[in-house]
Amino acid sequence: MIQILYGTQTGNAQNLAHVVHQSLIDAGLESDVHGFEAHAPEFVYDIKFLIIVTSTYGDGEAPDNASDWHSFLKFSDDLNLGHLHYAVLGLGDTYYPHFCQCGKDFDEFLKTHGAQKILGRLDCDTYYEEQYGPWLNELIAVLKNKISA
Ligand SMILES: Cc1cc2nc3c(=O)[nH]c(=O)nc-3n(C[C@H](O)[C@H](O)[C@H](O)COP(=O)(O)O)c2cc1C
Repeated sequence: MIQILYGTQTGNAQNLAHVVHQSLIDAGLESDVHGFEAHAPEFVYDIKFLIIVTSTYGDGEAPDNASDWHSFLKFSDDLNLGHLHYAVLGLGDTYYPHFCQCGKDFDEFLKTHGAQKILGRLDCDTYYEEQYGPWLNELIAVLKNKISA
């Protein structure tokens, strides 16, 4: 089961996470999609494949519904996430100095804790609907490959 978790303030990342979810289902992959607030951060131990879709708010901060996970992954020193395969899709706006910072943070925290990146992070601007297509196609190809291996 692939877990898609989204961090959102006004719904863009939620909508995109559901698009990703439907695309994975259409490709024959088992997928589940929730906001970060649906699970305590310790749920990360139970996930083998994690796709994060998150926006950035404030001055480079996590959306409210992602702040618990952001803090947990940032401040837990003894996490071993060697079991976890992940990819991050960030939504932001290049108008802001800390462009897509929350997505960059999650990418960095997961890597620091030993998780394995399956696809390079995509940082999307306000016209994200025109940007995510090739990344999503590549994600599906990589997941199919990993899951059938
Ligand atoms: C008050 C405010 C602060 C924002 N701060 C940032 C930021 O620091 N960095 C960034 O890349 N985007 C920032 N954004 C842009 C949002 O991340 C972007 O509009 C995103 O698509 C929103 O997605 P959401 O609806 O899922 O929350 C900000 C937007 C608002 C309204």
